[in-house]
Amino acid sequence: MGSHKIVVEGIVVVVVVVATVGGVEVMGLPPCEFPAIYNFGDSNSDTGGISAAFEPIPAPYGENYFRKPAGRDCDGRLVIDFIAEHLRLPYLSAYLNSIGTNFRHGANFATGGSTIRRQNETIFDYGISPFSLDIQIVHFDQFKSRTGDLYNRGGNSDRDKLPKPEEFSKALYTFDIGQNDLSVGFRKLSDEQLRAAMPDIINQFASAVQHLYEKGARAFWIHNTGPIGCLPVGTFYIRNPQPGFLDQFGCIKGQNDMAVEFNRQLKDRVNKLRAELPLAALTYVDVYTAKYGLISNTKNQGFTDPLKVCCGHHENYDHVWCGQKASINGTQYYGASCATPSTFISWDGVHYSEAANHWIADRILNGSLSEPPIPVTHACHKNPGL
Ligand SMILES: *[C@@H]1O[C@H](CO)[C@@H](O)[C@H](O)[C@H]1NC(C)=O
Ligand SMILES: *[C@@H]1O[C@H](CO)[C@@H](O)[C@H](O)[C@H]1NC(C)=O
Ligand SMILES: *[C@@H]1O[C@H](CO)[C@@H](O)[C@H](O)[C@H]1NC(C)=O
Repeated sequence: MGSHKIVVEGIVVVVVVVATVGGVEVMGLPPCEFPAIYNFGDSNSDTGGISAAFEPIPAPYGENYFRKPAGRDCDGRLVIDFIAEHLRLPYLSAYLNSIGTNFRHGANFATGGSTIRRQNETIFDYGISPFSLDIQIVHFDQFKSRTGDLYNRGGNSDRDKLPKPEEFSKALYTFDIGQNDLSVGFRKLSDEQLRAAMPDIINQFASAVQHLYEKGARAFWIHNTGPIGCLPVGTFYIRNPQPGFLDQFGCIKGQNDMAVEFNRQLKDRVNKLRAELPLAALTYVDVYTAKYGLISNTKNQGFTDPLKVCCGHHENYDHVWCGQKASINGTQYYGASCATPSTFISWDGVHYSEAANHWIADRILNGSLSEPPIPVTHACHKNPGL
C-alpha cells in the first residue's frame, strides 16, 4: 500500500509540472478572440431551451438579475453567462427559442433535464429532457447547415442574426452534462449497475466531441460534473441516516463518490481524445472541486448552510417547489424566494444561486482548476505539454 501511494503521488506531481509549463507557454500567446460559443448541457447551462420547448420557467426565477423569468433555473446568471461575459460575448440564445433570438455569436443547445444517454421516459415523468446530448448534436448540425444555406442566399436580412459560416471552426465549444445520467441512475439502477453503465455514458460523450471535431470544431471546454450528493433535494427525504451516509457537510457520500468516478473516467477519456483529435484544444475543467470547495467553506465565503434552500417552501418534509403553489393539509402555500438570495448556495434545492454561480465562475475562468491550466480566454491554444 505504502509504495503504491508513493507511485500515485509521483505521477500526480509529474503531471502538474508538465501542465504548468505548458500553461505558461500558452499564456505567452495572444487571447483567442472567440467569435462564438456553442454550448451543450443540462439545466446547469440552459438559457431558455426548456422554456421554449415546454412550459416557461416561472417567477421568481430570474428576479435577482434579469428582473423577470429568463429561461434559466436560477435567480440570475449561470456559469455559462459568466463565461460569455468574460469573453465579451452576448448571452447565448437557446437554439430552440423561436422568437427574439440572435445567434450571431453562438447558440445554446443545452436543456434542463438533459442526459448524455437517451432515456426511456418522457419529461412528464421526472423532468428528463428529450434533448439528450446526441439530439443536441443533431440540432447543432441542423443549425450549422441551415446557417450555411441562409448565408449563401445573399442579401438576406437573417444574416445579421447568424454566425458567419467560417467562424464555426474558431468558436468555443462548451459542455456541462452528465449530472442527470447519474440522477437517473440513482433512481433506476443499483450502484453496481450504474458503475457498469459509466463507460458507455463516457463513450457517448466522447462520440459527441468527435462528431463536432469532424465538423470543424477545435476548441473544447469541458466541465466535469458537480457534487450531486450535495444538492439539497437529495437530502429532503432522508430521515435517520446511518452513520457515514452523509459527509461532514451533510452531502450524500455515495452519490458524490459516483460523481468522482464519473469525473475520473471523463478526465481519462478527454486525455485519450487529445491523442485521437490532433488539432483539438481540449480543456477539462474541474467544476466539482470549485463547487465542493464552496460547500465545504461556506461561512468564510459569506454564504449560509449549503443545504438550505432560498426559494420554495420546505418544512417538515412538506415541499412546495420554487414558483409553485400547492395546498398542504388544506392550506395554500407558495414557493416564494428568500430575503437574502445572495447568501444562499442553493437557489431552489436543485440549482445553484447566481451568487454561487458567480463564485464558481471566478474559480474556473482563470484556468486554476483546469487541465491544462489555461484560462478560458486562451482555450483555443493546443497545449504543447499534453
Ligand atoms: C422502456 O420502457 C418500456 C415501458 O416501460 C419498457 O417495456 C422497456 O423495457 C424499456 N426499455 C429500456 C431500454 O429500458
Ligand atoms: C399535514 O398532515 C400530516 C398528516 O396528518 C402531518 O404529518 C403533517 O405534519 C401536516 N403538515 C402540516 C404543514 O401541518
Ligand atoms: C484564479 O482565481 C482564484 C479566485 O479568484 C484565485 O484564488 C486563484 O489564485 C487564481 N488563479 C490563477 C492561476 O490566477
